[in-house]
Amino acid sequence: MKALVYHGPGKKSWEEKPKSELKETTDAVVKILKTTICGTDLHIMKGDLPEVTDGRILGHEGVGVIEEAGSSVSNFKKGDHVIISCVTSCGKCEYCRKGMYSHCEKGGWILGHMIDGTQAEYVRIPYADNSLYPVPAGSDEESLVMLSDILPTGFECGVLNGQVKPGDIIAIVGAGPVGMAALLTAQFYTPAEIIVIDQDDNRLEVAKTFGATHIINSAKENVQIKVMGLTDGKGVDTAIEAVGVPATFELCEEIIAAGGHIANVGVHGKSVTLHLETLWDRNISITTRLVDTVTTPMLLKTVQSKKIEPEKLITHRFKLDQIIEAYDTFEHAAKEKALKVLIEI
Ligand SMILES: NC(=O)c1ccc[n+]([C@@H]2O[C@H](COP(=O)([O-])OP(=O)(O)OC[C@H]3O[C@@H](n4cnc5c(N)ncnc54)[C@H](O)[C@@H]3O)[C@@H](O)[C@H]2O)c1
Ligand SMILES: [Zn+2]
Ligand SMILES: [Zn+2]
Repeated sequence: MKALVYHGPGKKSWEEKPKSELKETTDAVVKILKTTICGTDLHIMKGDLPEVTDGRILGHEGVGVIEEAGSSVSNFKKGDHVIISCVTSCGKCEYCRKGMYSHCEKGGWILGHMIDGTQAEYVRIPYADNSLYPVPAGSDEESLVMLSDILPTGFECGVLNGQVKPGDIIAIVGAGPVGMAALLTAQFYTPAEIIVIDQDDNRLEVAKTFGATHIINSAKENVQIKVMGLTDGKGVDTAIEAVGVPATFELCEEIIAAGGHIANVGVHGKSVTLHLETLWDRNISITTRLVDTVTTPMLLKTVQSKKIEPEKLITHRFKLDQIIEAYDTFEHAAKEKALKVLIEI
């Protein structure tokens, strides 16, 4: 089969690999119909995640069809269409039993990370019963690709951990697909104002159409002054960090109101300064989270009922064998006016 293979920082190729096959009776092999590229794949390409080794097939998002199900898989059979969760979970270990699938003792985020991923013609999914979700009949499968990762990530790590409430003023730093997913799902809770901050004017304009009440280009404006101006000098109730670089986390520290919540979503490859000299008496909380994907079934209902329309995040379409071009487009998002790139067979 063909697959997108990582060969160390900055190096990748679309090459021939042995076809994915069952290893355990709880596995399923899924033929990929649609996949995409995550900001995390870009962090891997930058070398921010050194545990990813040479030869790894990348990708942790997608919709596909069951090619073969192991003998212990009871929820799915050959031919079923499925949403692949970016997090693999056995459903039985201590962490799974408390809903923290991200730290499943036998899974967690392993796809396209510690085991081969979804940017390929086929992928092996361990613990298929718990790690796949059925595609409801008649669904728009493009929108469902956003349920693999970005929607649960923006919602769980950003909105839920950030404790967004009615009437709050929130800031989302980073208007990539994950920041946009936080923007869409924050509106379940009717915050009063949503300030979106990025350096990419195109993404900021798109954020407005998705519900941002204010946008700030941090390359052109002083964000702290602008946010304080918008909040009577108080700062925001929730600051969601959806970039993953020191500057944006420190920005969240500068704009958070007393009693506020900084919800980190970004994957960080470098240490960040924690300014306790200014924050120690501010009653703030800081949270981190690897997405658990426990809210995927709920989010699926909101997509099905069109309460949110994540397919609007798709700006570019490629065939699977054009994936190198798709990476190029996503890596140069500002120039290409790209948000989510859909890659399909
Ligand atoms: N915690 C989790 O479980 C989890 C899951 C998925 C993704 N992530 C992480 O979420 C983050 C966002 O993912 P994405 O797919 O939206 O990525 P992306 O690369 O498409 O988006 C990042 C955005 O940040 C903006 N940006 C970069 N530097 C900036 C700066 N200094 N100031 C303001 N904006 C800046 C970019 O213009 C871009 O729009 C990444 O770090 C990704 O690894 C975390
Ligand atoms: Zn991801
Ligand atoms: Zn488990």
